Amino acid sequence: MCGICAGFGNGNQIMNVIRGLKELEYRGYDSCGLAFINSKKNDNLEIVKCVGGINSLEEKVKENFSSEIVIGHTRWATHGKVCEENAHPQLSFDGNYAIVHNGIVENFEELKNSIDVPFLSQTDTEVFVSLIAKENGSTFEKLRKACQKVVGAYSLALLENKSKKIYLAKKGSPLWVAVNENEVMAGSDISVFSNKFKNAFCLNDGEFAEISLKNVIFFDKNGKKIEKKCIPIENDGFSYDYSSSDSFMLKEIKEQPLAIRKTYLNLCVSQNNFDIKNFKKFKSFHFIACGTAYHSCLMACRFLQKFCNKPCEASVASEFRYAENVLSKNCLYVFVSQSGETADTIASAKLVKDAGLSIMCVTNVPYCTLNSLADFVLPTFAGKEIAVASTKAYTAQIFSLLIFALKLAGLNINSILKNFSLNFDCEFDVEKFCELVLQSDKVFFMGRGQDCITSLEGALKLKEIAYLNCLGIPAGELKHGTLALIDENSLVIAISTQEKTKKKIESNILEVQARGGKIVLISNIEHNINVAQKISLPCFEEFLMPIVSIVPLQLLAFSVCQKLGFNPDKPRNLAKSVTVE
Ligand code: AGP
Repeated sequence: MCGICAGFGNGNQIMNVIRGLKELEYRGYDSCGLAFINSKKNDNLEIVKCVGGINSLEEKVKENFSSEIVIGHTRWATHGKVCEENAHPQLSFDGNYAIVHNGIVENFEELKNSIDVPFLSQTDTEVFVSLIAKENGSTFEKLRKACQKVVGAYSLALLENKSKKIYLAKKGSPLWVAVNENEVMAGSDISVFSNKFKNAFCLNDGEFAEISLKNVIFFDKNGKKIEKKCIPIENDGFSYDYSSSDSFMLKEIKEQPLAIRKTYLNLCVSQNNFDIKNFKKFKSFHFIACGTAYHSCLMACRFLQKFCNKPCEASVASEFRYAENVLSKNCLYVFVSQSGETADTIASAKLVKDAGLSIMCVTNVPYCTLNSLADFVLPTFAGKEIAVASTKAYTAQIFSLLIFALKLAGLNINSILKNFSLNFDCEFDVEKFCELVLQSDKVFFMGRGQDCITSLEGALKLKEIAYLNCLGIPAGELKHGTLALIDENSLVIAISTQEKTKKKIESNILEVQARGGKIVLISNIEHNINVAQKISLPCFEEFLMPIVSIVPLQLLAFSVCQKLGFNPDKPRNLAKSVTVE
């Protein structure tokens, strides 16, 4: 789960690749590095690596090095602990080749035993590059032969000592390359290209590319030259100013009203080529995703059942892909993913496609692997989300899926949606709420129906960035186990946005209080009950409330994280895009 970037061109490419790597940090940020050809030192292959983010790497290389041929990497550890030895680029045993790799070599143990050479790291990638060095033929032939032996996924860039070429190979993990009159760049996604490139090529599985000055040649898996069509790239809204010291997470929480407005304008006003007639034939819906996106799927099920009376199901992608699924052509399989690059979601989508069935993808990144598989794409309009914890992408997913359900049901409630898009805001004071959480030993989130889903998402946010061991549960499940944990050191956050379950959640609150637990109530409903704190939500139609009620929970996670001194944008052991299984 890593990002790779390469630059080849006139002028110093080191800062170019560093800038590209900053765009890719969402894919992992525990260590990073560069390999480059040093023309001032006999075209020697040099490597600079460090533990930490790209800023540390930038400090290390600043003004000290210059090169026109550079490959770089930002890592999320899969094989081997976080240390400089395991950071990429990895060198072959003979020191002739450096590689940066995104993916996993599943048969690395077997390959390692087949080549009798010393290894300095614990990575599968070092095995890959040494395997390449062991093969016979030209560098390209060595690479091609090694790729045939590797089981697993890779996008990689390979650099040879004293050479004037970079080689790329792709299987499973994404890889793009773009050319202009001065330089060639390659990377794990199009954000590395900045505004300097108007078009880009997307490598398909099994393809290779050879980069030289201002030129790229593509090859198929047999090593035969191929022509590829380039795709115009729009960078609008997909490039960030990294110099700002503000946290991306807080910025993105506050951007939610804008994301909702953009979604309303694109899906309800300009219609965006999305023809709802295509979906009338489906008798049921199955939503599949991971993490926060899975919570959007749970919400989507409620919308389609409520407005369209269609049977719906939601599955976690890592479960779906290995389940004994009974697939049906009357069902639309919907894959929800902010990044469109989540490995389990992609594998699940491929499984359904291979069965000859239709799939729709709901994604926030226009040029992503998931969209390339989709029969239908429902875009979300959150703009680029940098912070690892998903906030604006989540609410944009819910709003897009709600609009989808309303359109499918033939309900025209544009005025309600318009009113919401104009009046939804994200201003909540969570200072006291934050203190209550910090004073408690145990934190629980509970709700019923749509509020249960918000509870799950609220708990995930607090776990992800503040590292608190908390739990989200359906409030009705309280007395089926969790009540045993409630005592005077417990805080229970109750969400209540539905009249239908008002009395039920009140009973659950009393059950908690009877055992000494404190309650924070988040609600837009009149509850005649004493609690440690009430956070009042503005009133919108009930089906819009999940977009509102999650906001104080996002702000809570952010505040607790800051109070505990953690970085909200880069939580430990997480990556924005989980591109390996
Ligand atoms: C959300 O805060 C997390 N970063 C994580 O749960 C995420 O939603 C999940 O990994 C799915 O990612 P995707 O939406 O890019 O597929």
